[in-house]
Amino acid sequence: MSRLHKKGAHPNAVQFDKYDYYRRSVQSPESDVLFYRKTFKELTGRTPQIFREDFCGTHALSCEWVKLDKKFKAIGIDLDPEPINYGKQNYQSKLATEQTSRIEIMQKDVLSKDLPKADLVLAANFSYFVFKTRERMKTYFASVKSSLNPRSLFIMDTFGGSLCYDANEESTRHKDFTYFWDQESFDPITNRAHFHIHFKPHGKKKIERVFSYDWRMWSVPELKEILEEVGFKKIHIYWEGTTRAGGGNGVFKSTSIGEACQSWIAYIVAEN
Ligand SMILES: C[S@@+](CC[C@H](N)C(=O)[O-])C[C@H]1O[C@@H](n2cnc3c(N)ncnc32)[C@H](O)[C@@H]1O
Repeated sequence: MSRLHKKGAHPNAVQFDKYDYYRRSVQSPESDVLFYRKTFKELTGRTPQIFREDFCGTHALSCEWVKLDKKFKAIGIDLDPEPINYGKQNYQSKLATEQTSRIEIMQKDVLSKDLPKADLVLAANFSYFVFKTRERMKTYFASVKSSLNPRSLFIMDTFGGSLCYDANEESTRHKDFTYFWDQESFDPITNRAHFHIHFKPHGKKKIERVFSYDWRMWSVPELKEILEEVGFKKIHIYWEGTTRAGGGNGVFKSTSIGEACQSWIAYIVAEN
């Protein structure tokens, strides 16, 4: 998230809070943490206490995690101080002091050695697609595996579908702005894809490229194989159910057979 517009610094001079728009467009931290805790309990029979949010950005999930239980601790890791500071000022500031005392944020590379041990490591919003080679992905997965406590989980989300193999743009209207997810390119030789998020506050000009991502599109079997190679014992795929209208319903269930939709989201859950 380096090519970002500072609040108010855009040539259109539109005042907007890009992280607030981002949260309302692509994050659901309150319900996501419930899914992680429930899945952990179902698969391991244990309650996880230490949650590590890799690529944490504004660490919205860490802030929700410590609200769930007085014993829960959260560790967030991200390279970029800008979203980290936003999260401290806007999300941590809404928590009780006792709750913030159970959050530790580290400005670090997730590939750094000796990251803190955890019961549950999470990589959300496809952030690990930043790794373009199998070797780097394997290094990351091996590092996560070695930092997990016994009988613990690594959870990551993933996405795909026929729409991801070409340029396209989709939009979602919110109360006071429209969110755009723009896939600029896809290269079938490298699977490299470039994406942008644009926002258009109602009645104002569209603000282009507020967030940009340079990713490799990874398939579920590729990721499963790498997870197995680094020693994860069982890999589960949680596929999203569909509404009557054919969209995602936000309910993810473990399955061995997916559905070839134009666009899908799933969770990969790896047991160590
Ligand atoms: C797509 S954003 C996701 C933020 C957050 N996880 C979410 O769910 O919205 C990706 C984040 O990963 C961070 N990032 C990218 N490469 C990283 C690395 N090697 N180590 C740590 N953070 C990294 C970026 O700074 C950015 O905040």
